[in-house]
Amino acid sequence: MKVLAVNGSPRKEWNTATLLNEALEGVDSEGAETELVHLYELDYKGCISCFACKKIDGNSYGKCAVKDELTPVLEKAEEADAIIFGSPIYFGRVTGEMRSFLERLLFQYLVYDQEHSNLLEKKILTGFIYTMNVNKEQMKEIGYEQNFKSTEMMLERIFGSSESLLVTDTYQFEDYSKYVTTAFDEEAKAKRKEEVFPKDCEKAFEMGARFARQKS
Ligand SMILES: Cc1cc2nc3c(=O)[nH]c(=O)nc-3n(C[C@H](O)[C@H](O)[C@H](O)COP(=O)(O)O)c2cc1C
Repeated sequence: MKVLAVNGSPRKEWNTATLLNEALEGVDSEGAETELVHLYELDYKGCISCFACKKIDGNSYGKCAVKDELTPVLEKAEEADAIIFGSPIYFGRVTGEMRSFLERLLFQYLVYDQEHSNLLEKKILTGFIYTMNVNKEQMKEIGYEQNFKSTEMMLERIFGSSESLLVTDTYQFEDYSKYVTTAFDEEAKAKRKEEVFPKDCEKAFEMGARFARQKS
């Protein structure tokens, strides 16, 4: 039993990575294997629309034909018993690197037939951890949840299941006083980091532990 976590944040030790590490600790607490991939360490592009994964009798039918540093990650994802994605929200969406990864991961399995069938035969658990600066009310008001839902639906269609953990009002800077940050109440942010973020970490831990238990 192995759980793969994929970090779509350029920061390897901040909010998103911390939550993913917590999730993997949860996995580990149940005795399952873990691996964390940082997308920003890799040189790759999104789908290039070559359609090799859809070509009748093609060598790469059902598989992304592009060979770059994402290729081993796509292979790991296919072997994983569960996948936990993590991304900050940049301008209302996941980061560009996460988006490019999802294009390459998901498109290869989608069949352009009447049923929109799916070439990935096994079903696995997937979770998506989103981190964002806005608070919960702003998130709802701006309508971010629509995007989270559509990603959930797509992951569910391919992998068979999907859930999301929404982590709002994150702490963004090492030292707020060094940056132009008058839009934010630093004290309130620090309080939230101290009081609420640890609870978000617990939720991530529980997600990991639950995934490992359900699969073992
Ligand atoms: C380029 C950029 C764009 C951002 N856009 C948004 C946004 O649209 N909405 C939001 O809530 N937060 C936004 N943020 C804040 C990040 O989503 C938030 O700080 C996140 O927790 C960062 O994750 P990290 O700590 O793992 O890097 C943005 C940050 C950056 C750097």
